[in-house]
Amino acid sequence: MRSIPVIVVGFGPVGRAFVRLMTEKSNDLREKYQLELKLKAILRSTSAYVISEPESPDLDSLEKINNPDYWQEKPSLDSLLDQTPPGAVIEVTSSDLKTGEPGFDHIRTSLEKGWHVVTANKGPLLLYFSELMRLASSKNLKLKFSGATAAALPALDVGQICLAGSRILKIEGILNGTTNYILTRMAEGLSYDEALGEAQQKGIAERNPAYDVEGMDTAVKLALLAAALFDLKINIKEMEITGITAVSQEEVVQAVSQGKKIKLLATLSLENESVKARVRPEMIASDHPLFWVDGSNKGLSFFTDTMGELTITGGKSDPRGAAAAMLKDLINIYRSF
Ligand SMILES: NC(=O)c1ccc[n+]([C@@H]2O[C@H](COP(=O)([O-])OP(=O)(O)OC[C@H]3O[C@@H](n4cnc5c(N)ncnc54)[C@H](OP(=O)(O)O)[C@@H]3O)[C@@H](O)[C@H]2O)c1
Repeated sequence: MRSIPVIVVGFGPVGRAFVRLMTEKSNDLREKYQLELKLKAILRSTSAYVISEPESPDLDSLEKINNPDYWQEKPSLDSLLDQTPPGAVIEVTSSDLKTGEPGFDHIRTSLEKGWHVVTANKGPLLLYFSELMRLASSKNLKLKFSGATAAALPALDVGQICLAGSRILKIEGILNGTTNYILTRMAEGLSYDEALGEAQQKGIAERNPAYDVEGMDTAVKLALLAAALFDLKINIKEMEITGITAVSQEEVVQAVSQGKKIKLLATLSLENESVKARVRPEMIASDHPLFWVDGSNKGLSFFTDTMGELTITGGKSDPRGAAAAMLKDLINIYRSF
């Protein structure tokens, strides 16, 4: 049995879901993977829950974690990392696409101190991908980020593990559940505003939906996939990005009347050594591999030189799905995937 100290940095919906999953899955982790995840600390912006002797969280500890009386003033991550033998840091603070902070500092410090890192935080990866990957590799450590690319949809695993040895020539995906939900409901007769309102009511869309509906979330995920799968640094400012705000109900209904659908597609292709990356609404026909990806589902097609075309679809699109993708990354680190 391997005992792995775990520090969770960030305790929003994803951090909470991760700690709960550690508890729910502890038997499976022991029996199937011979892993015992021992919680050392949880950090929020100003407070921390710290355990002097790291333990596997159970229902009692979950109750304590949810009781503010057990929280203390936040020590530095630096000092916590020095208190036990290295394990894994789960970095789930808010994503800042302009500075990458505080995630960048957390990830860099953790790697420097010999800890593996699993993150769902897009900001630091978008801005410092090569630097962080180089640092991880120089320390013989892993930095995994399934939660940042399409959460439970195993985009990175398929691209990096299942398609090993094959050249990926193009990827095309529906990478944002919110916009796909809105377009699906518009195809069923709602106006854009009605569909957005419904998505907000169901907790699928944020109260400020700009990041999703203007295509930025999709573009960032595409840039991360480009970095991981194609070793390409794509400047988001130079990418063609069109969201769904200008898609009219008439256009969507017209597409339906022709047996087609409008989807927000992210495309990255290599043509004659030049790279094309774009995000835009496109009309697709029923023979398109992503035609049936509806509601808040996501999907990704890979076009390869030797393995043909392969499409993955579905995957839970919420904090628990993102946390589960992170738990998968953690397990795979310790079985050397
Ligand atoms: N929500 C999803 O479904 C989803 C899916 C995929 C990826 N993600 C990504 O996963 C990450 C977490 O998502 P979320 O929805 O849980 O985020 P969130 O609601 O913004 O929560 C962020 C957490 O980070 C903490 N934090 C902020 N600054 C910190 C610092 N300097 N040190 C320690 N903790 C700090 C906050 O502390 P306080 O509690 O004190 O404010 C909060 O607990 C984000 O980067 C997000 O983009 C989210």
